[in-house]
Amino acid sequence: MRPTRWWETAAVYQVYPRSFGDADGDGVGDLEGIRQHLDYLEWLGVDALWISPFYRSPMKDFGYDVADYTDVDPLFGDLAAFDRLLAEAHARGLRLIVDFVPNHTSDQHAWFVDSRRSRTSSKRDWYVWRDPKADGSPPNNWISVFGGSAWAWDEETRQFYLHSFLAEQPDLDWRNPQVKAAMFAVLRFWLDRGVDGFRIDVAQFVAKDPALRDNPPNPHPERMRHMGDWSRQLHLYDHGHPDVHGIYREFRALLDSYPGDRVSIGELHHEQFEVWAGYYGRNLDEIHLPFNFHLLFSDWDATSVRCVVDAIEAALPAGAWPNWVLGNHDQPRLASRVGEAQARVAMMLLLTLRGTPTIYYGDELALPNAEIRPYQVRDPWGLVEPGQGRDRARSPMPWDGTPNAGFTAPDSEPWLPFAPGRETHNVAAQRDDLGSMLAMTRRLIRLRREHSALAEGVHRSLEGMPDGTFCFVRSATGDGSAPAVLVALNMTSEPRQVPINRGSGRVLEATHAHRIGSTVDTAALELGPDEALVVELEGS
Ligand code: GLC
Repeated sequence: MRPTRWWETAAVYQVYPRSFGDADGDGVGDLEGIRQHLDYLEWLGVDALWISPFYRSPMKDFGYDVADYTDVDPLFGDLAAFDRLLAEAHARGLRLIVDFVPNHTSDQHAWFVDSRRSRTSSKRDWYVWRDPKADGSPPNNWISVFGGSAWAWDEETRQFYLHSFLAEQPDLDWRNPQVKAAMFAVLRFWLDRGVDGFRIDVAQFVAKDPALRDNPPNPHPERMRHMGDWSRQLHLYDHGHPDVHGIYREFRALLDSYPGDRVSIGELHHEQFEVWAGYYGRNLDEIHLPFNFHLLFSDWDATSVRCVVDAIEAALPAGAWPNWVLGNHDQPRLASRVGEAQARVAMMLLLTLRGTPTIYYGDELALPNAEIRPYQVRDPWGLVEPGQGRDRARSPMPWDGTPNAGFTAPDSEPWLPFAPGRETHNVAAQRDDLGSMLAMTRRLIRLRREHSALAEGVHRSLEGMPDGTFCFVRSATGDGSAPAVLVALNMTSEPRQVPINRGSGRVLEATHAHRIGSTVDTAALELGPDEALVVELEGS
């Protein structure tokens, strides 16, 4: 099926607003700072911008604890600054996607302040309040994603409330129709202002087991080690109850009632591909793009990566559009996970697979993790569970080689340290260097647009390739006149020769720029160490 909606052929770019551009010089990024860098995003060629939360917040979880969904935190600006950013993005043909945090508010949100006041508050049942067990312990064994019990005791009203994340992030009760109505009003507020869609935070958490049953222990906690304390249980009951689908059908109907193909992108972690794919909806009437994190969590070798790609292609419901992610503000940086040489291979993969790619700011520079000393830890998860900190992937964007890298005023202190190597890993240094990660990323984004095979063609993984290589062909679905494109990835640091077919091809893009434009023999295609090529197949 040919893509027809803008977000199907778009490249999405995620901005973490604290770290992109700081216009007021307080060391923390802001909306005006993002606006000032729209030139760059236009130059890079991305189509849509997703901005992590900038709403009023005590910033316990850096904006994922919202105290007012319909206002901008003064740290980031105000609604007028948002409107300026949106208008200017639109004038440049860039779409803007905002974060929607439905599962929990801040404990400082007026709703929770009211809810907490007394058991008879009209907002009491907007949140999940329960009596203790007879022995005084929490109502069940659920644990917070950030570690420890998911229940906090309120001494005043002598009940526990549920918080799937920090105690300062109480969970809303979406089974209460008033909550749903209030949250849908929030969506309308931003839709009316003109946003092009939402990224839905921890989307599957909004529906839990109504009986709040205990989760069973996880027999294989080591498989979920990256989740820390949370890996102790199998999370059967604390999220992803089947009622979640009804909520997203209604959510989708609301989006569809607006003109302009507003998009929903859901943060959905699920190891089972079929469960994940279920969030598209039985009739493709739920979330447009359930974020696909399976590459992000894959081991970085050709066999594993190919398995993920093939399994996702197979799991997609008919007519569903795929999407791919290699980094975000919650995971270690791509270049640190797979190494800088493979980061280029990964970027090529991200931008040539069938489906919508999301690029995390800075990954286009191959930015590594920042080195965070214990006294520099800011992330609440890192403070609660040492080692789980996400600060290393949230360091400020380095724009140039000046002392504060053009991120903030030279005499300010950026809120987090820069990642190492910013003499070379900055926009100014890489912009005009054809061999840089940035230049390659930019060319790949353009290539997707120019070649219908890449933008919309079908995907076919090639069989019988040598160990450590992953090769696939993208061919346009139209009348067959557009040439097919081969993507050949060497995921090892040794040379490989891959036999594709008798014939030749022209290199459209390469991790090592000197090969671009050359003609190659596809009967025995030579790939250098850590090299990846996009080749237009002749006579295909
Ligand atoms: C999501 C966000 C993460 C946040 C959490 C709680 O996973 O990406 O940054 O801490 O939700 O809102």
